[in-house]
Amino acid sequence: MEHPRNIPLILFAVLLITSSVITSTFACSNGQCQLGDGCSSDADCQTGLSCFSCPGAFEGSRCVRSTATNQFQINNSLPFNKYAFVTTHNSFANEEEPHHTGIRVTFVNQEDSVTKQLNNGVRALMLDTYEFRGVIWLCHSFGGKCHDFTAFWIAIDTLKQVEAFLSANPSEIVTLFLEDYVNTPKLLSKVFEDAGLMKYWFPVSSMPQNGQDWPLVKDMVANNQRLVVFTSKKSKQESDGIAYQWNYVVENQYGDDGEHPGECSQRDESAPLDDKTKSLVLINHFHTVPIKKLTCGDNSGTLLSMLDTCHGSAGNRWANFVAVNYYKRSEGGGVFQAVDKLNGQLICGCDDVHSCKPGSSPPTCSAIKCQ
Ligand SMILES: *[C@@H]1O[C@H](CO)[C@@H](O)[C@H](O)[C@H]1NC(C)=O
Repeated sequence: MEHPRNIPLILFAVLLITSSVITSTFACSNGQCQLGDGCSSDADCQTGLSCFSCPGAFEGSRCVRSTATNQFQINNSLPFNKYAFVTTHNSFANEEEPHHTGIRVTFVNQEDSVTKQLNNGVRALMLDTYEFRGVIWLCHSFGGKCHDFTAFWIAIDTLKQVEAFLSANPSEIVTLFLEDYVNTPKLLSKVFEDAGLMKYWFPVSSMPQNGQDWPLVKDMVANNQRLVVFTSKKSKQESDGIAYQWNYVVENQYGDDGEHPGECSQRDESAPLDDKTKSLVLINHFHTVPIKKLTCGDNSGTLLSMLDTCHGSAGNRWANFVAVNYYKRSEGGGVFQAVDKLNGQLICGCDDVHSCKPGSSPPTCSAIKCQ
């Protein structure tokens, strides 16, 4: 009223504000939304991102990372133990697996199939193997036994997905961690044979016994020894030729007991985390009961701080494997960014693998993070 001449200006400002609100709500779609942008479906987000909510961290849904950086494309001339890999906990217990026993009532740990996990850059799978209905099944358990209501599907189906991936991706290496409840000798090695996986087998005899470096990744690829398998059952190394995990890997406590901020305690079965006679370090970071809406927080800030804590507990060693539930869920970068950090540290001593300056020896970081 006092300054009637300003009315057009005010109107113009109101228009500007409204239109910017409208454009920020619908700022992007059709594969154009970037990391952190609001979205209504995966199709809105750029390649490599998915559209997820994360109550507690942000309102609505945003594009978050859902694919890993290919660390071997940055540098493949280092030993296998100088790399970090996204690892899915109970990879087989995923929402895409149909019900095969009629009455499955157990929880799932992941959203997409093992094939999709691998295509998104997951390079290590945690599989629980049981004798069930006369063959080997992947299953959750009660008291070490598989039941109709906890059974997912026959192991050979998942192993064939791994075979198809290794065959289609001749420069990639996949690691399997078997929580192994199979008692009959040679039954497990038979299923690997039947799945066509023996041609990729990395032999136990080539695994370092006393804290030495693993073979170079480029040599593992050249020799087609691209499948690394560990079992939790000691007798299998002798009977089936499958490496006994605790001879080669240290691991922290999994589930709720492992989730105390500022602590990184060893899992009972493992040697102490700072035992450097084991060349590989695996970090679990997930709660006992997988709750999708909480997992995005687990896979974000608390994961990064856990990795720092565990670096100290492991005798100043960065983790090689990071195992999570719902691996695509996060507040933005998630397990993918965490593994980029680990690979940066392992490959060139930088805080992000994208900062490793190609071809530099000794390794150096570029000041500018390049994609
Ligand atoms: C890979 O890392 C090694 C060791 O730091 C270095 O000598 C080599 O130049 C790097 N290769 C590439 C392609 O960056």
